[in-house]
Amino acid sequence: MAKKLLLEHADVPGIASYEVYRKHGGYASVEKALKTMSPDEVVEEVKKSGLRGRGGAGFPTGMKWSFLAKPEGVERHLVCNADESEPGTFKDRYLMEKIPHLLIEGMITSSYALGARRSYIYIRGEFMYVLRILEKAIAEAYANGMLGKNILGSGYDLDLVVAPGGGAYICGEETALLES
Ligand SMILES: Cc1cc2nc3c(=O)[nH]c(=O)nc-3n(C[C@H](O)[C@H](O)[C@H](O)COP(=O)(O)O)c2cc1C
Repeated sequence: MAKKLLLEHADVPGIASYEVYRKHGGYASVEKALKTMSPDEVVEEVKKSGLRGRGGAGFPTGMKWSFLAKPEGVERHLVCNADESEPGTFKDRYLMEKIPHLLIEGMITSSYALGARRSYIYIRGEFMYVLRILEKAIAEAYANGMLGKNILGSGYDLDLVVAPGGGAYICGEETALLES
């Protein structure tokens, strides 16, 4: 059977908490990236990994990142599309509900690679209970120095905000999402 990557620890009791997530190797990518790698090195590593987007097109993530200009002199934000309004689709909701820290970890490492200092998780309005799970996990991440100022003593600062949308299918399309 194929090895599960994203959902490997989904059924571990208490995995939604920072403590249990950490015990299962959580936030290792943040430690590795922020303490030992430059943002460009993280982009290269993601390119090499062959990781692809989950938004429908399966676009290579590292290649998408390398199209961006350097963030110098501009404020940059990373926005996670968690609208997921395709009928019958629940891959993102399942992941956020079960292992919210996995998404937060990915947001921190990705934001570091891209030079974002304030990032957003845009979540479908109907997922109010998932929003609460995420907010609790984000508060834990702040309390443990994974978000906020000078993360893990690296000098990198990041704020992460959850923004609920109105719940319209079109708001999952990226330009409509940002407008919304
Ligand atoms: C009408 C419409 C609705 C979309 N809805 C979603 C959505 O709910 N979630 C999502 O991740 N991508 C959605 N997409 C694709 C996004 O616009 C975008 O391409 C995607 O989030 C890119 O992310 P990725 O690189 O991770 O695949 C939608 C696209 C269209 C045209």
